[in-house]
Formats: sequence, structure tokens, C-alpha cells
Amino acid sequence: MHPDIERVLLGREEIQERVKMLGETISADYRGKELLAVGVLKGSVVFLADLLRVLTVPVELDFIAVSSYGASSTTTGVVRILKDLDRSVTGKEVLLVEDIVDTGLTLKYLTDHLYQQEPAGLKVCALLDKPSRRRVPVTIDYLGFSIPDEFVVGYGLDYAGRYRNLPDICVLRREIYEARE
Ligand code: PRP
Ligand code: MN
Ligand code: MG
Repeated sequence: MHPDIERVLLGREEIQERVKMLGETISADYRGKELLAVGVLKGSVVFLADLLRVLTVPVELDFIAVSSYGASSTTTGVVRILKDLDRSVTGKEVLLVEDIVDTGLTLKYLTDHLYQQEPAGLKVCALLDKPSRRRVPVTIDYLGFSIPDEFVVGYGLDYAGRYRNLPDICVLRREIYEARE
């Protein structure tokens, strides 16, 4: 195990099983439709890559990049668009894909932004939810796991840009983020 990791919270097999179930549910719900999956860079990319491959409906892909955390482990509350979608989502069945919903500020900002373009439908799929941290109410239509308030990294999730490549979702050792803040 990586020396900066305290323990594995969700192992790779457990994640894959859950992703497969989510993919099956989403595919059933969108039967006969075409989906536009919108990945929120950068955290969602690993989850999105796995989710896409278990979907059985036609899928288009786009990305939006936002950041609120910067190099800090807690949100600043200000969401910035770093890269907008390549094309408008008007008239599309949009599935917004996130790695984690924490305060909800990112998701709230993004759903407001996308609704302005009048999609045919807009649903949210998030692998992780930390409900105890919520500051604004948001709806997650497809959720992987609800987790306690611990600082997790891996499977796309970072701390200060690192650890996204870890295959499991892991609790970061407290010393690692406390030393920097
Ligand atoms: C993280 C995470 C979500 C968001 C959740 O992204 O990937 O997008 O924060 O936090 P919130 O619910 O409190 O808004 P981050 O800003 O760290 O960017 P990244 O995806 O590039 O790591
Ligand atoms: Mn993110
Ligand atoms: Mg991040």
C-alpha cells in the first residue's frame, strides 16, 4: 500500500461491482434513448471510464472542468469553470458524472449551468456522497456509495493533484494534509 494511505475504504472489486450495477440501472432507465455523458474534470475520469464501458445505450461524451478546492483539502466555496463543454447540451439527455459530492456547491453550480441550456433531461450520477458535509441541497439520481466524512483519495480523487491513479478509494493519512495547511 502507498505509504501516505491510512487504509482502504472501498476496494477495487467492490467499486467495480457497484459501477456495474449503476451501469445496468442507467442503461435500463435510458433504454431507447441516446445519452450525453458529461464528465466533471478531473476527478470523475476514472469512474467515468469504467461506467461508460458497462452502459449498453448509445453514449456521447463531453467534459467540463471546474475547480473549487485548488490545493486545499477543504472547499473555498467559489466554483470556477476552467473548461466549458465543447457543445451545448440543448435538447440532449444529459448524465452529469461526478466522483464525489461533498458540500454540493460544485454540483449545484453545474446543474444550474447546464439547465440554462435547456437539456431534454438532466440526471446526476456520483460514485461517492458525503452527506454530512452538505451545504446546499442537491439531487443525486444514481449514487455509488455514501461515505463518512473522511479525506479520501484514489480512483480519480486527488489531494493537491496527487493519488488519482490509486486503484482503490483510500483514506489519506491525516499528517499528509495537516502538514500542508
Ligand atoms: C472535487 C470533486 C467534486 C467536488 C466536490 O473536485 O471531484 O467535483 O470537489 O466538492 P463539493 O461538493 O464540495 O463542491 P475538485 O474541485 O477537487 O477538482 P478535481 O475534480 O479536478 O479534483
Ligand atoms: Mn471534481
Ligand atoms: Mg480535487
